[in-house]
Amino acid sequence: MSSQPQRASRTDPMPAPGVPRPGFARWLSQSNDVTSVFLAAGQNPDLINLAGGLPEPALWPVDELAELAAEAVRNHPVEALAYGPIPGLPALRDLIAARFSTPTLRLGRENVLITTSGMQALELVGKVLLEPGATMIAAQSPAYLGALDAWRPRDPEYRPMRLEDAGFDPVTALAGAQFAYTVPNFSNPSGRLVPLAQRQALVDAAHQTGTWLIEDDPYGVLYYEGTPLPRLLDLSGARKPGTYDGPVVYMGTLSKELTPGLRIGWIIAAPEMIGALAAAKQGSDMCSSGLGQMIALRAFERDIPGRILPDILATYRSRRDALCAAMHEHLGAHLEWQHPSGGMFVWARARDPRLDTDRLLAHALAHGVCISPSSVFDPEGLDRGAMRINFTLNAPERLAEGVRRLASAIQATLAERS
Ligand SMILES: Cc1ncc(COP(=O)(O)O)c(C=O)c1O
Repeated sequence: MSSQPQRASRTDPMPAPGVPRPGFARWLSQSNDVTSVFLAAGQNPDLINLAGGLPEPALWPVDELAELAAEAVRNHPVEALAYGPIPGLPALRDLIAARFSTPTLRLGRENVLITTSGMQALELVGKVLLEPGATMIAAQSPAYLGALDAWRPRDPEYRPMRLEDAGFDPVTALAGAQFAYTVPNFSNPSGRLVPLAQRQALVDAAHQTGTWLIEDDPYGVLYYEGTPLPRLLDLSGARKPGTYDGPVVYMGTLSKELTPGLRIGWIIAAPEMIGALAAAKQGSDMCSSGLGQMIALRAFERDIPGRILPDILATYRSRRDALCAAMHEHLGAHLEWQHPSGGMFVWARARDPRLDTDRLLAHALAHGVCISPSSVFDPEGLDRGAMRINFTLNAPERLAEGVRRLASAIQATLAERS
């Protein structure tokens, strides 16, 4: 062993002790830790997680997916294992185009980009449409936390769209915004279904103002009652014949209708938008997983999502009913909410304005249950009077126990204030 002391050379990447390192970007300090709290909550078996938007793993067709994965690697190693085309495997883009085409909506491969799931779709839209610090997003309010996270590094301003307000005017809302963001089917977090007349008005406003209209649709298959309403994309396509080139940017994902871990989603939009998004994707991940895309392609060809859907709907419908019944029994005095007709969430507002749901989260964790407080769905973080409660991950008895724990946590939070 050398007796010479170890010295930092001029090329040593570690700074000398005491030398400050460059700081992290400013947006990191504005981020929230709720997503990591509830993903970590999933690792704690004693905690009842009502916070995430997580599907029930028992509903996944594991054996069939394992066969598709093995078949893809063995028989299609280039598609599955090589770098692939940036916008996605041509066969999968064609399949998505055909699947979403209707007599009045003509889609071709040029209208489709395969993404690394819905989160990447949101991030790419931010990359191609937002100039840092100088752009306005008209966002359905309350807004999906993941979308706010995806756009935070670009520091946008938000114009909230409160679609339930009687005086809501889509043209005023969209005018001058870089894009408008909506989740028309069972919004995350509010569980709200945007009615047909309002869908039409939003689409008309997008055509009139030229503002891009983002339709984020992970829950479009999860209708527990009623007939699915037309997509904004369908309504926009019906306005003009020919290959689609309108202002709606539609986002789909396999996360809720198959499995989230595949990380496969798609954007359907005007070819000029698909070109811009593909340029942005090149600098993000170059291409989505070929193996994931091959599994998705074969799964659609075998109609696996269609075959497992009845089971998914029956399971989630009964869990929604179990959650709402338990809430009615234990939380009716404290909270008000609407029974959602689809999706994964109940949005509940405190009757007592002194109930601060950020404080409630801390008490809830101490009582062994986790919810998502409303502040994280408000771009300004100001709404502290509501919460999102998930009903898809837990069986009915566990949901009921979670609600009982939440009732105790609410009492503890209120006691702290009085
Ligand atoms: C409204 C909305 N958009 C996008 C996503 C992203 O999902 P994924 O990235 O799994 O497709 C979610 C997930 O819960 C969501 O609720």
